[in-house]
Amino acid sequence: MSHPDPLPRQFVASGPLKGAMTVPGDKSISHRALMFAALAVGTSRIEGLLEGEDVLATAAALRAMGATITRLKDGIWEVSGVGVGGLLQPAQALDMGNSGTSTRLLMGLVASHPITATFVGDASLSARPMGRVIDPLSQMGADITASPGGRLPLMVRGICPAVPISYTLPVASAQVKSAVLLAGLNTPGITRVIEPVATRDHSERMLLGFGAQITVEETDQGRIISITGEAELTPQSITVPGDPSSAAFFAVAASIIPGSDVLIANVGLNPTRTGLFTALTMMGADIVQENPRFVGGEPVADLRVRHAPLHAITVPHELAPSMIDEYPILFVAAAMASGRTAARGAHELRVKESDRIATMATALTAIGVGVEEYEDGLAITGSAGAPLRGDAMIASRLDHRIAMSMAIAGLASHKALTIDDVSPVATSFPTFFETLDALAGMAL
Ligand code: S3P
Repeated sequence: MSHPDPLPRQFVASGPLKGAMTVPGDKSISHRALMFAALAVGTSRIEGLLEGEDVLATAAALRAMGATITRLKDGIWEVSGVGVGGLLQPAQALDMGNSGTSTRLLMGLVASHPITATFVGDASLSARPMGRVIDPLSQMGADITASPGGRLPLMVRGICPAVPISYTLPVASAQVKSAVLLAGLNTPGITRVIEPVATRDHSERMLLGFGAQITVEETDQGRIISITGEAELTPQSITVPGDPSSAAFFAVAASIIPGSDVLIANVGLNPTRTGLFTALTMMGADIVQENPRFVGGEPVADLRVRHAPLHAITVPHELAPSMIDEYPILFVAAAMASGRTAARGAHELRVKESDRIATMATALTAIGVGVEEYEDGLAITGSAGAPLRGDAMIASRLDHRIAMSMAIAGLASHKALTIDDVSPVATSFPTFFETLDALAGMAL
């Protein structure tokens, strides 16, 4: 897929951020809601769906495989499923755009259906490793032909019936776990995934809600997740909570910009996702959870974040899976803290939408921050609250989270910085810039 023209944008020092805001629906949960609804027999309703490019790529692919998916109004969608086993052969290649989650989870779905699908994506996605899903899905009997290095474009020839496997995850990855579980939905018998380190568990929670036979055991080897196929899924009415990974940018912005006081409403706080809020609190951030409740089977609260001086920490390695998407914005928080923050044990950052260790090291160095790069993370010497230098051109490298993180760094910079292309922000947070502008110009 070709990428639209680059969209440069400049960021300058901001006054305090003030006001109430919401974040769009959780990206991980939105993908899964569409996929499980597309496999149920009957019509599901989804409220609060993220209408970002990544999730729209999932919707388009599911339509191409037979599901009827209708947008009723803002964030409210209806999906009529084909039933597990009922996916149809897509007529054309499935265009995954920038979305690793769409690709890996849909590869799992196709693997145990008697259909063949070709997956294509943009330059960022086409550089990302797919071997991690090719291995277990091949063990289940799917025939997968990938480009060199196990990359896109690739073709999955599904098999029906597939063979149930017991698979221990070699990398902590919710995408790989979910790909195997999704393949297991249409595989007779019990498919098992063993995860030595817990990763986000939205698939497990939601599959239970859709009526799948799925169990989770906590053992000495880690979590053992077992799914029984061939499953029958019952349509659901789902409300998607706000995305903590999107809230993260505003939690850091409010923490580092003096005088800020922001209320971020309806933030999903599944414990497998909250590592960034834990790390920020360890650094001295003032984050208060208000009105805790459950939305769509997930814990949710409103977060009130006020400016506070941050201090350096050594980020515990155990937090990595629960904040894997939040390291770029954590690095920005570290750049404004007092002392040297070490954030390591996160080698996976090398294979995200960009190499997030290298991309952030280059970007922060360009605006005057002291950075040491390691194979598995960064150490950052912070400014103790003083504005960053700014005054640089930053490459976002087709990575939405780099663009948003460096936009926040720009608000804390003395001189303007320019991001060469902010268009990737539309993959996960289409309203990011209007939200930022509203908070910068509003009183609480
Ligand atoms: C996701 C899992 C994570 C995360 C990604 C979304 C998911 O990827 O980085 O943004 O929805 O399952 P990995 O499985 O590669 O860790």
